[in-house]
Amino acid sequence: MSTTWLLTGGAGFIGANFVRFVLANRTEVSIINHDALTYSGNLENLAGLEDDPRHEFVKGDILDAGLVRSLIERADAVVHMAAESHVDRSILDSKPFIDTNVGGTQVILDEARKVGGRRVLLVSTDEVYGALPLDRPDLLFTEETPIAPNSPYAASKAAADVLVRAYHHTFGMDVVTTRCSNNFGPYQFPEKVIPLFVSNLIEGKKVPLYGDGLNVRDWLHVDDHCEAIVRVLEDGTAGEVYNVGGNNERSNLELTRMILELMGCGEEMIEPVADRLGHDRRYAIDASKIRRELGWEPTRSAWPGALEETVAWYRENDEWWRRVKSGAYRDYYAQQYGE
Ligand code: NAD
Ligand code: TYD
Repeated sequence: MSTTWLLTGGAGFIGANFVRFVLANRTEVSIINHDALTYSGNLENLAGLEDDPRHEFVKGDILDAGLVRSLIERADAVVHMAAESHVDRSILDSKPFIDTNVGGTQVILDEARKVGGRRVLLVSTDEVYGALPLDRPDLLFTEETPIAPNSPYAASKAAADVLVRAYHHTFGMDVVTTRCSNNFGPYQFPEKVIPLFVSNLIEGKKVPLYGDGLNVRDWLHVDDHCEAIVRVLEDGTAGEVYNVGGNNERSNLELTRMILELMGCGEEMIEPVADRLGHDRRYAIDASKIRRELGWEPTRSAWPGALEETVAWYRENDEWWRRVKSGAYRDYYAQQYGE
């Protein structure tokens, strides 16, 4: 039976990979891809899908309640991932994070509630849990870990996350939430550490490593995240939260050294820079619930192979990130949609 999913934020990094993943793995599913094309949304991430009858792109802001409602009416379920997503930008200016991540989620929930009968999945993040200490490797985030966000980005995602919880409790809405660790893979905006470092090295520039470089992230390939989102959407229990992670903890220094090695560069290319304000020390996910209840396993995240493939993608697709770094990718929007 054919079914339609409304995806918000599908021109960004995870969104574009999600569209490709679903088109390839769920032949009965069509996607309406609703994205405002902010600085991190890029139609070039969706190149080759223009004529696919199962993918429809709609440019628009999730704060536009009328548009959101009309799109939800045409869909059977909603995968909500549109967001401001970069911690450093949230430290410079938190307003767009509150507007989109909190206000936008409220619009999605209210419009879905009015239409009725649609499951809403929120793509949340492990950053809502705050940080773990380096000297307690036994500690992991579980779904019961208290929400304690530390950056404005994480706080805005946490607000969205608990709003989803409240709409389930108050209105009995059919909602599910995923909280995933750091993703890597193709089409990631080159402000995030992996594409930034790889592209800098190709350009002959140094890589800016924050603080002592010992902060730890749990890295998961974006396709494993996409598969988890599909599983939770299809089979997750209403009102539940599912952690998603790869058991793949790496310090930033270890990650940087691996990238340097893959790029044939030495440690002199590391530029130690001032630490990020409030920099979370360590994220680590216990994903046993989604494994146990939904049979999900990460199958594409094993290191060093998965990182090697991702680095190779950025080397082979230098036109893509050069156009992002230079801003040329935006020329297309101007032509297509006006300034
Ligand atoms: P991204 O910045 O690459 O993409 C975000 C997309 O949302 C862009 O296409 C942008 O145009 C769109 N968008 C922003 N504001 C909008 C608005 N008001 N209306 C409509 N569209 C809007 O981010 P990403 O890394 O792909 O992250 C996607 C989601 O996954 C986010 O919700 C993020 O919090 C979550 N997440 C990301 C990671 C990660 O490692 N990247 C990990 C866990 C969770
Ligand atoms: P990032 O990719 O921004 O993801 P997040 O903050 O959501 O985890 O950063 C990943 C890690 O890399 C984080 O600990 C900060 C660090 N980092 C640097 O050391 N230098 C950089 O230039 C950037 C962007 C990040």
